Amino acid sequence: MKTDFRIGSLSCKNRVLTASGTFGYGLEAAPYTTLAALGGIVTKSVTKFPRAGNPPPRIAETTGGMLNSIGLANVGVEAFARDKLPLLRGIGTAVIVNIAGSSIDEYIDVLERLEHEQGIDAWEINISCPNVREGGLHFGAKRETAAAVTRALRPRTRKPLIVKLTPNVTQVAEIAAACADEGADAVSLINTLVGMAVDVRTRRPRLSTVTGGLSGPAVKPVALAKVYETARAVSIPVIGIGGIVTAMDAIEFLLVGATAVQVGTSSFRDPDTAVSVARGMEEFCREQGVEDIKELVGALRVDDTGAVPGFIA
Ligand code: DHB
Repeated sequence: MKTDFRIGSLSCKNRVLTASGTFGYGLEAAPYTTLAALGGIVTKSVTKFPRAGNPPPRIAETTGGMLNSIGLANVGVEAFARDKLPLLRGIGTAVIVNIAGSSIDEYIDVLERLEHEQGIDAWEINISCPNVREGGLHFGAKRETAAAVTRALRPRTRKPLIVKLTPNVTQVAEIAAACADEGADAVSLINTLVGMAVDVRTRRPRLSTVTGGLSGPAVKPVALAKVYETARAVSIPVIGIGGIVTAMDAIEFLLVGATAVQVGTSSFRDPDTAVSVARGMEEFCREQGVEDIKELVGALRVDDTGAVPGFIA
């Protein structure tokens, strides 16, 4: 059974990665799972300087999901290079470093600081964080700014560039196409959906920032529709993210056109989820007589009625 895939020089043994911000810098989960059984890990977003993040409360549970407003808390690029990255060398799986910034120069500075460090297989560019005043969603929500970030980074690295997109737009496929035109090697989506929750007794919002990012099983149908729309519109690989808990969830993403998936929120409940998903996908393929899991990518059967997706004629 063939489960591996490549995006340029990035080579992954299977199609399940961990999603940024849900798996620390990679090693935190090591006692609870088998890192080498993953297709890859995506680190927490790294910014130029250390960030304490937003004040608490910055996590709230919702029905079938969670809201967060972490505010890109991280150790900053210097400490990442010094204390975290060395530990990731030799973990037996691909390492994708997620970068965030509040200006294009910040993305450039972080990438250039790390570009010649050993042990990084690819970049994921976070242009879709909903919880910071500057940068984040600001870049990801418009074609022009998404293209500008991609254009600025493309000539500065030979490693694959994966641009992580926000679902908080009407036409995500257009933003994906703009990134592809500027040389992105892949896009990943969805990042979190802007949402909020209210404590009716205190009459206060449940998050200090009032709104935050919604993730977890509640967002899966939205994610599938966005991945479907995007995969039909671009020829670069699409990495599907959003509410994956089981292998069947991941297979749904492959069928609608995802080349690979990331497991996020469910890792908080069980850090071994991503590995279980990878194993379950392999089992499903064996059961179905699928010899290479890539046969499932985009294999959704849609009757060609000529109708535009989303509209019934
Ligand atoms: C944060 C960043 C994200 O990209 C996201 O989707 C949700 C939260 C954060 O750090 O606040």
